[in-house]
Amino acid sequence: MDFATLIHHRYSVRAYRPTPVEEGKLAQVLEAGRLAPTAANRQPVQIIVIHTTGRAAELRRIYHREWFSQAPLLLCVCALPGQAWTRGHDGKCYADVDAAIVMDHLTLAAADLGLGSCWVAAFDPAAAREVLGLPPGVEPIAFAPLGYPADAPGPKLRKPLADLVHYEHW
Ligand SMILES: Cc1cc2nc3c(=O)[nH]c(=O)nc-3n(C[C@H](O)[C@H](O)[C@H](O)COP(=O)(O)O)c2cc1C
Repeated sequence: MDFATLIHHRYSVRAYRPTPVEEGKLAQVLEAGRLAPTAANRQPVQIIVIHTTGRAAELRRIYHREWFSQAPLLLCVCALPGQAWTRGHDGKCYADVDAAIVMDHLTLAAADLGLGSCWVAAFDPAAAREVLGLPPGVEPIAFAPLGYPADAPGPKLRKPLADLVHYEHW
């Protein structure tokens, strides 16, 4: 799929078929995450691959929507702020930005392979820490189910470009 088609094609999938995700496709999705750029190439990100079979009850503690554990796989992108680049001028830490770029690579790669995913940030971080056994210093940033879609995309609701872009100054 060419890039322009891909970014139109990707959408937030909120219903999944039980069809397993092929190991080769998972590997391609993870490789796309690995190749994501990060500030100063610090790569302060880890990805947890969760097989959802038999784990619906504990995963529902993290995010209560039924579709969250409906796909055979669930990915969790974590940031390690202590390893991330921080801007010298004001100390701003770019760990979350790095994790977001990894997540975007994962979701676009998934769409390119005919798989669905959906960013989930509205999860309970305390439950995520407990269920996934996250050590101190590791922050769960976003989850994404990964599986074959059982729904269809709606219209792309976006601001017009004129409401988004400024030229030369604000
Ligand atoms: C940072 C971020 C957090 C999100 N968190 C959630 C979430 O917790 N639950 C959910 O259903 N969708 C979540 N979404 C999906 C957005 O609602 C969705 O991307 C947006 O409405 C645009 O729709 P589209 O992805 O289908 O193009 C999130 C998206 C982003 C980028």
